[in-house]
Amino acid sequence: MQMQMAMNIQLTPFISNPRQGQLLNLNFPNKHSTLTCCAIRNSDLKLSQTQRLVHHFNPKTPIEEAVTPPTSWYTHPSFFHLELDRVFYRGWQVVGSTEQIKDPRDYFTGRLGDVEYVVCRDDSGIVRAFHNVCRHHASLLAYGSGKKSCFVCPYHGWTYGFNGALLKATRISGMRNFNVNDFGLLPMKVATWGPFVLLNLEKENLSKKEVDSHNVSKEWLGSSSEILSTNGVDSSLSYVCRREYTIECNWKVFCDNYLDGGYHVPYAHKGLASGLKLDSYSITMFERVSIQSCEGSSEKNKGNYDRLGRKAIYAFVYPNFMINRYGPWMDTNLVVPLGPNKCQVIFDYYLEHSLKDDKDFIEKSLQDSEKVQIEDIVLCEGVQKGLQSPAYRVGRYAPTVEQAMHHFHCLLYENLAK
Ligand code: FES
Ligand SMILES: [Fe+2]
Repeated sequence: MQMQMAMNIQLTPFISNPRQGQLLNLNFPNKHSTLTCCAIRNSDLKLSQTQRLVHHFNPKTPIEEAVTPPTSWYTHPSFFHLELDRVFYRGWQVVGSTEQIKDPRDYFTGRLGDVEYVVCRDDSGIVRAFHNVCRHHASLLAYGSGKKSCFVCPYHGWTYGFNGALLKATRISGMRNFNVNDFGLLPMKVATWGPFVLLNLEKENLSKKEVDSHNVSKEWLGSSSEILSTNGVDSSLSYVCRREYTIECNWKVFCDNYLDGGYHVPYAHKGLASGLKLDSYSITMFERVSIQSCEGSSEKNKGNYDRLGRKAIYAFVYPNFMINRYGPWMDTNLVVPLGPNKCQVIFDYYLEHSLKDDKDFIEKSLQDSEKVQIEDIVLCEGVQKGLQSPAYRVGRYAPTVEQAMHHFHCLLYENLAK
């Protein structure tokens, strides 16, 4: 990988799109400063070949006749880079929970593709997000999550405020043509919906417009937002905990597994199957969201322990976020792509207030949930190995149950083909 970087003074600030070498506008705290980067990568040279792979799936073929996307979608490194560009560096992406930035001066960090970010709540309660990269020599600025009064770079001590301003630049005596106002952290567009924190890596002119939460809801959830709200996907639940799993599979394998309409449940999750009425499964598709729902069975676990309640709702929000609302619980699954053959899945658990101190119930529920995750991880890693085998190229859809998966693949096609 070669990277050329040039700094000069122009009217419009640019930063390169990390994958395509295209120039994107990004706002700088000082409008007169400019950073122009041009990234040339080997993968760019193969862009047209990679784009051809997109058309190996035909979204117009009806599900009854359709074949699934080919294995190259799940294994090819340059396809993975194309996805970062077209899918993850565009639109709203969930990155965490408001629980992580509950109070002023709370922050958390993360990475999506090549983009390092820090999200924080400033002293006046405003949620902000920045590229987590020091403007001196590019060190990552903050790590993990927690509380701070400012961000001090661990490398040479440059210090930034929660508004991104460079408060202190150390040892700069003798440096000419340097204005601290030009070297604040680069901001990102951030929003919240219910308990979820979203970033948009694409939007330009960040300082000009405040994020309109109504638009976020419309862009992110479309017409499903009301249904999700009325089904209790809201911020009145208590946050319980987070569990993270690194899985040796493409991020879409995990999504596909989620989107098979309960097809695998009786075979792979016998414990879970006994708590659900699988013949009541229904699937509804919205613009970028699909909702699978299922009634709970009357056959409850011993001791009146009822984790699943009367109805379970499984909402998939394109491209990589799942909201599961069942009984008194809600858990969310964020599937973070780490490479063509690897992803991380972050589970956040929320619970109705009345049960938040019931340690036994929480522990049993988390154990049962963990069991299902482990079963899914085994399945997903097995599928990834199968996808890498020369024996397989494309598969078929079971039309009565796998509509949401087909919908997901069609949305991907639409995103990738543009
Ligand atoms: S890289 Fe941050 S202060 Fe030098
Ligand atoms: Fe599963």
